[in-house]
Amino acid sequence: MREPADSAGVTTGGIVRRCVCPGSFDPVTNGHLDVVERAAGVFDDVVVAVLVNVAKKGLFDLDERIEILRDACSHLRNVRIASFEGLLVDFARQNEISVVIRGLRAMTDFEHELSMAQMNHRLTGLETFFVATNPEYSYLSSSLVKEVASYGGDVSGLVPKQVQERLRGRFEDGRSNSR
Ligand code: PNS
Repeated sequence: MREPADSAGVTTGGIVRRCVCPGSFDPVTNGHLDVVERAAGVFDDVVVAVLVNVAKKGLFDLDERIEILRDACSHLRNVRIASFEGLLVDFARQNEISVVIRGLRAMTDFEHELSMAQMNHRLTGLETFFVATNPEYSYLSSSLVKEVASYGGDVSGLVPKQVQERLRGRFEDGRSNSR
């Protein structure tokens, strides 16, 4: 049996056990999944948290994003999928999470990620640990995937099969409607 984490998601021995991988995941890419898998190899309990952004309608709705993530992470026993609205620090506090995991692809990510990490730390002491993205995925983003797929480009190997199929369905309809 695992020793339960205390209220900060940290064991009494001081070892961090629970983390959150937050994101928009519209849609999840293999780059995201690489980060989640690596987090799952280090932490006991990994919560992948999908941001509910009422101001921004994505390509996939919240239920679809969650369904896709559940399927893509089903082989990882210590990973669960959740959603959150509002501040990440509040979600973390409510779920007794003390560490945020974010992937860093390149220097272009760094400035924004650093300020988010510093703000989160300033707000509640929430820590952020950065994972250096696998170079195989360092150019990969959800928006690029959507753009390529929207013009009928091949995104195999960049996203899970299920995402590939859903993208094809979504954009094939759009292209045939606009002809
Ligand atoms: O996949 P993304 O869009 O890069 O993820 C960004 C995310 C969801 C991690 C970030 O926008 C976030 O945490 N939003 C929640 C609102 C919040 O806490 N804002 C203050 C961050 S300092």
